[in-house]
Amino acid sequence: MPVQILPSLIHRLLRLLPPEEAHKAGLKLVRFFKAGRPEPPEALQLKTWLGRLSPPIGLAAGFDKTGESVAYLARLGFGYLVAGSVTLYPKPGNRRPRVVRRSGEALVNAMGLPNPGIERFVENLLRSALRAGVPVVASVAGSESQEVIACYERLKGVVSGVEINLSSPSLRDAAAIWSEETFGQLAEMLASVKWGPVSLKIPPLAREELKSHVVKAVKIWADHGFEAITAVNTLPIDEPRLSTGFGGLSGRPLNAYMLETLRELRNIVGEGCEINAVGGIFTAEDALQAFRLGASTIQVYTAIVYRGPGLVREITTDLAKLLRELGAQSIEEIQP
Ligand SMILES: Cc1cc2nc3c(=O)[nH]c(=O)nc-3n(C[C@H](O)[C@H](O)[C@H](O)COP(=O)(O)O)c2cc1C
Repeated sequence: MPVQILPSLIHRLLRLLPPEEAHKAGLKLVRFFKAGRPEPPEALQLKTWLGRLSPPIGLAAGFDKTGESVAYLARLGFGYLVAGSVTLYPKPGNRRPRVVRRSGEALVNAMGLPNPGIERFVENLLRSALRAGVPVVASVAGSESQEVIACYERLKGVVSGVEINLSSPSLRDAAAIWSEETFGQLAEMLASVKWGPVSLKIPPLAREELKSHVVKAVKIWADHGFEAITAVNTLPIDEPRLSTGFGGLSGRPLNAYMLETLRELRNIVGEGCEINAVGGIFTAEDALQAFRLGASTIQVYTAIVYRGPGLVREITTDLAKLLRELGAQSIEEIQP
């Protein structure tokens, strides 16, 4: 059997399993992928908050929650990878079922941030991150500012940057976390221990009751001179098939929310604060649209579940072609 058919066949077989089992099996199988990665076309190199990325396409948080697989996942062609989210202490996450597939190439998850805790996560990364060959970012979550800060400090010298995740639907009391006072304190504390680039992961600017808080937080973030915003996390919705009865929507239907959030963000943050676009990006056209709206990098998650391990290479090849057709020598030329 030709070797290129095998991954797509395996991918189709994995789709027959429940989503969490398929994900586990996929993470095991990725270890058998050929090491090394072809250098993407020069037009796809971009200077970003994480240095020069080639391509500026990252794996979104939540795919490798333990930090054990980043070296293998890098072989799929990513320019950087986000591992985690990690919390200070280990968390088992919610009861199963906690991920379900939805029509229209979507997922709804209520994983509840299962992770091995910061100590074990750092051990895992020390074994795997250096072998990734591209920047690795750690996603840190927590309901209390002290927890987030302790994780951030522990990651010094281990990763290239940190993404602060205050936007998982499972974090309790979103309104309190995003309040001007609580968030302002977190930003102050983070600024005082800052050792490297940080991005803030935000929810879609869709829920009116939360939107004004998140917009204020983004302004505070940019005013403190932090490097980036990652937009967006999943959209909270009801889902009776999940043990929790609700979860976060990702994939195709999230794309419109992500694009709307990107448009709003550009009016809030200046040039100094970059944007990582994530949410329903499946194709080079989707990527192009995000870069045109000012994204510095894009990230993918659900598209890999539906389209398989060849996704990043496909987006990379097609994006280079799209740029050529537009007469652009680089991504920079199409950014606003
Ligand atoms: C099963 C699952 C688990 C996730 N876990 C995390 C997480 O731990 N931390 C985080 O910041 N985002 C997490 N996300 C959100 C993704 O990083 C991403 O923001 C979201 O899925 C939208 O991108 P997509 O449409 O390309 O999947 C998770 C998403 C899924 C589907």
